[in-house]
Amino acid sequence: MERTFSIIKPDAVERNLIGSIFQMIEEAGLRIVATKKIHMTKAQAEGFYAVHSERPFFNSLTEYMCSGPCVVSVLEGENAIKRYRELMGATNPEQAAEGTIRKRFAQNIEANAVHGSDAPETAAVEISYFFNQLEIVG
Ligand code: PPS
Repeated sequence: MERTFSIIKPDAVERNLIGSIFQMIEEAGLRIVATKKIHMTKAQAEGFYAVHSERPFFNSLTEYMCSGPCVVSVLEGENAIKRYRELMGATNPEQAAEGTIRKRFAQNIEANAVHGSDAPETAAVEISYFFNQLEIVG
């Protein structure tokens, strides 16, 4: 069993898509073992995306991520990291495959509906950024 970290981003929460995205996650066989709605500060968003701090889109991305509430979750399943990345689809929704969350719901490369961890090390860091062990119920 593996765990990954998910964010339903402000654009998707604003458009009332939490339930639709959770349904896609559950129908893909991933289990939601922790979840909560949060509204990040700019500093919290900058900390979360610190690895991208030198990228040209860093300020825009972090402004966007604190522009409204998000839903953060821990997902569990076999190969959960890879499977959730596949379910999300490409970062740029114009390149996302049919049947993916971003193909259905993303608006553009910034307002792209969801985030998912890209590796076991980042999943562990990202999960612990938002959840403590007591909040994760497998
Ligand atoms: S990487 O590191 O090359 O794989 O970068 P990538 O996954 O493409 O993007 C990392 C996160 O930055 C967001 N992103 C952008 N935001 C705003 N504007 C532009 N142009 C842009 N390009 C990439 C992208 O949605 C990723 O966010 P997360 O939340 O990690 O999915």
